[in-house]
Amino acid sequence: MTNPEGLWDKRYSENPTPNAPSEFLEVFEQYLPHGGTCVDIAGGNGRNALWFAKKGYVTSVVDISTVALNQATKSAEKQDVELECIHWDIEKDLMPPERKWDIALLTLFLNREILRSATQYLNADGVLLFAQPTKKNLERHEHPGERFLLDPREIFEIGESLKDMETLHVDEAWRDSERHEAWLVCKKVV
Ligand SMILES: C[S@@+](CC[C@H](N)C(=O)[O-])C[C@H]1O[C@@H](n2cnc3c(N)ncnc32)[C@H](O)[C@@H]1O
Repeated sequence: MTNPEGLWDKRYSENPTPNAPSEFLEVFEQYLPHGGTCVDIAGGNGRNALWFAKKGYVTSVVDISTVALNQATKSAEKQDVELECIHWDIEKDLMPPERKWDIALLTLFLNREILRSATQYLNADGVLLFAQPTKKNLERHEHPGERFLLDPREIFEIGESLKDMETLHVDEAWRDSERHEAWLVCKKVV
């Protein structure tokens, strides 16, 4: 049986330095509310959560890896910002119940149910940002493996299928990161 927590703990122990924030945050900053709360789902050691915290958003990171969350906490302390770190298995329990945020971010983690249930963890007018490589990415990169990749053009179907969410932006393309990524930004409309 695989143990995702142990696997990710090991990965973060071996590579403790957070990567640069996702390029799509700068691109989509225009769609974000000017303040409020933000959750980075499966946010790892906080590369994107720290971007939000430094901009003044009250920011949470949800992740299964204690090692990653400890690294995120240390980075936040060093950068003099606050992060709420929530140790949570989203494959098992989706998102923490009774919690809602103004912005939710999901990058490089594929769980379609988390996308479908966005209205449950977003406040009214809340914005969901999602970036995930597609199967076209395999033309240039061996990882992530196929089961973690979106089908070609699947992102457009996902955008249309999300109930009570309005799509603000959807596309897929080769990005500056050299990955072929699907990007989706949508807003809760009820
Ligand atoms: C490829 S990394 C992406 C991290 C971050 N979103 C980013 O863009 O840098 C995948 C993340 O998902 C987390 N993860 C894996 N399985 C999880 C689960 N069942 N529940 C919560 N987080 C999980 C891992 O610990 C890891 O931080």
